[in-house]
This record gives sequence, structure tokens and C-alpha cells, in this order.
Amino acid sequence: MIKQINVGVIGTGWTGGIRANACARSPLIDELHIAEINPERLAEVKDETNPVSATTDWEELLKNDDIEAIVISATPESTHYPMIKASLEAGKHVFVEKPVSTTIAEADEVIALAEAKNLKFTVGYSQRFKPKFAYVNKALKEGLIGDPVTCLISRNVTRELGTKITGRSKLSPAAMEATHDLDFLLWALQPRKPIRVYSQTAGKLFKRNSETPDHQWIMVTMDDGTTITVGAGWILPIGYPNYSQCWIEVVGTDGALTIDDTHKEVQFNTTEHGIRYPMSSMPGEPVDHVFAGPMADETIHFVEAVVYDRPVMVKPDEARLVMDVYTAADLSDELGEPVTLPRNDPSAALAAK
Ligand SMILES: NC(=O)c1ccc[n+]([C@@H]2O[C@H](COP(=O)([O-])OP(=O)(O)OC[C@H]3O[C@@H](n4cnc5c(N)ncnc54)[C@H](O)[C@@H]3O)[C@@H](O)[C@H]2O)c1
Repeated sequence: MIKQINVGVIGTGWTGGIRANACARSPLIDELHIAEINPERLAEVKDETNPVSATTDWEELLKNDDIEAIVISATPESTHYPMIKASLEAGKHVFVEKPVSTTIAEADEVIALAEAKNLKFTVGYSQRFKPKFAYVNKALKEGLIGDPVTCLISRNVTRELGTKITGRSKLSPAAMEATHDLDFLLWALQPRKPIRVYSQTAGKLFKRNSETPDHQWIMVTMDDGTTITVGAGWILPIGYPNYSQCWIEVVGTDGALTIDDTHKEVQFNTTEHGIRYPMSSMPGEPVDHVFAGPMADETIHFVEAVVYDRPVMVKPDEARLVMDVYTAADLSDELGEPVTLPRNDPSAALAAK
């Protein structure tokens, strides 16, 4: 007989809705439970997924001893830390959307708690589940382009998404958007470690009403001299709801990889909206009987990790390292100078010169 678990999803907005739907379709899940404070959205996702329970009080899910795993997809991002902590304390395995928390100290606390309680704990770095990205990772890990010399990922999303993200938190483009591509490159370049970070922001559009930058560039030097450049912006005109375009260049001693993830391969042109690019958001979207994007597979990977006691895709210490790099990037932008990693240890950076 197939082993099944019961899963709770907290916050069934955009991403939580996708996760709840992925869970509802999986034969590995017996009972789905959802918690969402917006009653209309709760009713919508309840209709879509037919959960065993649907509540506006997320703590009810933690009181249910039959739920083994919790997916945390609530916003604002400051909700993540208390929800992770309470879920782990209740003995549940946890999947949380990025970011883990708003401070590194909070992240350290929940990572240690998960380890002490021997519970699975992982973070939603969905881009790792895109075939194009998996290919870059494979090429780097297998040395297909020789020794990597430099890697670039430039990503821009729409101002609609920028407005949504910046409306709920003060987290930077590095923390909220580049975090995906930093995670990806740091993972693909393992076992190399980041030793120096330099970052600059630019802002003209959102600056009219807030302190938020429009775009952030981050340069990271790895301990073997490989350089990473990651850019994240959130002011593109609408190309599709939550449109994201991304371009990857990886150059090595024996070859190069160029990946176009700008989603221009499907154009939908109507008299009403002009040209749009369907299936172009970062998590993706359901299309009839399939899911176009990484988030459904990512959700089920976590469920499988719990059911079969397999390793999670994103290890807590990897997510911790990404936090280290993006907080160093924000500090660098503030100071106008490079920041060395591990923090306050310039000898590590000098040694690699
Ligand atoms: N992996 C990706 O590609 C990706 C993409 C977008 C967003 N994200 C991350 O996913 C998270 C969710 O983003 P989103 O765009 O889905 O946000 P959203 O605002 O669409 O959804 C969040 C939901 O949480 C609900 N909520 C808030 N407080 C709650 C509480 N106490 N209990 C229950 N529900 C509560 C809100 O009502 C809302 O419906 C964010 O942390 C974001 O950084 C990841």
C-alpha cells in the first residue's frame, strides 16, 4: 500500500494556492488542510482543492496531531519565523517560502531547532526545479564547460509584482528576487564558497513614493576566483501577470552556456492586451492537465522527502548562506564598498587574491 501523509498549507494566496493544488492532486497525500486569513481566498482554494479542513486560524493546523508536514506560504515575510518556529515545536516537517526570516539570527534559531528535532526543513528556491536551470547545474557540476570563470544571471519582473512585494515589506531586490538566482549559482558552484560581495542599487520609479530601489546588481567573488553577477529588477511594464524574464551566461575554460529564460517562445497577441507571454511567471501556472513551471514539482519533492525520508532539495545551511550573501549585498550597497565573507574576516578575501 502507498504510504501517505497529511499536509497543512498556511497562506493560500498566489504561491500557497499553487502548493495546495499540487498537494490535492498527489496520491502521496491523504488529508490536505488549509489556513488562510482572507475568507474569499480561503473559499476559492477550498473549492479548488477540497481539503479536509479550511480555517482562518493557522494555529489550528498545528494542534492537529495527524498533520506531519506544514507548507508556509503566508505574507508578509515577517510571518515566516513565528510560523516555522511554532510548526517545528509542534513536531511538523516544514517547507517555507523564501525568505526563511527577516534576520539571520531568527534563521539560525529555526535551523538549529529543526536539526535538534530531526525534522525536515527546507526553503522554496523554485528555480532549481526548472529543467533549464537543472541543466546549468549539471553542466557545472560535471565540468562540461571546464573550470567556471564567470556566471551571470540577470532577472527582471514587472512593476505590478514590484509594487506587490515592496508594498508589504522593506526587503531589497537582493533579498526578495536575486535570492533565487544567488541560491542557484551558489548551489551549482559548490563546493566553492563566496568570499566577497559588492552591490549597487538604482532607483527612479519607486523612489518617487518610497525608499525602495528599482534594481540591484550583486557581484560575488568565490574562493577559487570565479565571479558571479546577479541582477534583479522589478519595474518592467506588464508583459503578463507576474511576468519574469531571465538570462543566464556561464563561461568556463572549455566552453560556455547561454540560457534564454525570457519566455518569448510563446507569444499571445490580442487586440485587447497586445502581446503577452503566457506561462512566464517564476512559479509557473496550471495549464489544463499539466503545470507549466517549477512550483508543482518542487512541492511534491518536499512531500516525497517526508514520505520516503529522503533529503530535501534546499538544505537549511544552503539557504543560510544565501541570506549571508544578500545581507552582505545590502550592506555593500549601503556602504558603497565590498563586504568580505565570512563577515568581519578580510583575511579570507585577501588569501584568495
Ligand atoms: N518561489 C517563488 O517563485 C515565489 C514566487 C512568489 C512569491 N514567493 C514567496 O512566497 C510567499 C508568498 O507570496 P505570494 O505572492 O503567494 O503572497 P500572497 O500575498 O499572494 O499570499 C499570501 C497569503 O497569506 C495569507 N496570510 C497572511 N497572514 C496569514 C496568516 N496569519 N494565516 C494564514 N494566512 C495568512 C494572505 O491572506 C495571502 O492570501 C512570499 O514569502 C514570497 O516571497 C515565492
